[in-house]
Amino acid sequence: MYVLGIETSCDETGLGLYHAQKGLVHHLLYSQIDMHSEYGGVVPELASRDHVRKLLPLVRQLLQECQLAGSAIDGIAYTAGPGLMGALLVGATTARSLAWAWQIPAIAVHHMEGHLLAPMLEANPPPFPFVALLISGGHTLLVNVQGVGRYHLLGESLDDAAGEAFDKTAKLLGLGYPGGPKLSALAAHGKPDFKFPRPMTDRPGLDFSFSGLKTFALNTVNACDGSWQSHADIAAAFQSAVADTLAIKCKRALEQTGLQRLVVAGGVSANQHIRSTLAAMADKTKAQLYFPRPEFCTDNGAMIAYAGCQRLLAGQHEGLAIAAYPRWAMDSLVGC
Ligand code: KG4
Ligand code: ZN
Repeated sequence: MYVLGIETSCDETGLGLYHAQKGLVHHLLYSQIDMHSEYGGVVPELASRDHVRKLLPLVRQLLQECQLAGSAIDGIAYTAGPGLMGALLVGATTARSLAWAWQIPAIAVHHMEGHLLAPMLEANPPPFPFVALLISGGHTLLVNVQGVGRYHLLGESLDDAAGEAFDKTAKLLGLGYPGGPKLSALAAHGKPDFKFPRPMTDRPGLDFSFSGLKTFALNTVNACDGSWQSHADIAAAFQSAVADTLAIKCKRALEQTGLQRLVVAGGVSANQHIRSTLAAMADKTKAQLYFPRPEFCTDNGAMIAYAGCQRLLAGQHEGLAIAAYPRWAMDSLVGC
């Protein structure tokens, strides 16, 4: 069974083709970063219009490169939320229309479920159950994962998501969009000597709060000598504070659930310092750690094709109505 995955929830037009037995066949990504960087962040209307322009040509390219006709596709999975409404609707209407034309089922996929299942595309996929740390631009979630669709929320950010904190701190350091990778590149030249707090680690619980770190960074920037080296040191101190906070909460989540596997996914999981801090924690606690490859940490169509394939195999699919959900609670999903 060939499943085409379509991702358009934000600033990336992503396509994936997943085969139930053969695994991932192909994937393509068109990033809108260059277009939005001029404005210092994602402009939703421009994002929607660009998805309209790029999506169908990308579907044609994918089929051509796989030497497949549309008639070979057995199901279509598309990101139905959470995300930008206009951007989501482009993916949803295109997916539903193609499914109608090709007379095949379509399935709405939760974007964060896509991220959560992305490590399943790797050679050594994590067996269920596990704890998942999902760190993206819009969400920071700790989830007890018992199976596909069987998610119990353990903790979440009460304010900024981890990626949002990276992006905002990068902005106040004068770095461009998207801030996460740029801040991380600057941090590589700095020492984490400024003493940043590790928010909400001094009390019990698995929730996060990252907005204070951004304010702390702003005050530190205002008080420093303004040199490039000081900015690099602030970037390194901020990044260490985020990494340590995530590691402390993950260790706590593993202890609380009694689980010994940790899956880390979402755009911020591409960060090398965060990966090595979590690896050191996992090593000490004898937990097994799983990441997707860096290109599947950030938004992509392969993870949507995989998640949709699992749901289609379980007999789930959508009616003909086109729906998108800018907000969508992950623990409201039904299991497979
Ligand atoms: O998962 P994602 O591609 O999109 C959302 O679902 O939001 O995550 C994007 C976020 C952005 O905030 C971006 O700055 C951050 O992931 N990010 C990083 C890195 N690469 C992407 N943050 C820190 N270090 C990175 N290397
Ligand atoms: Zn994402």
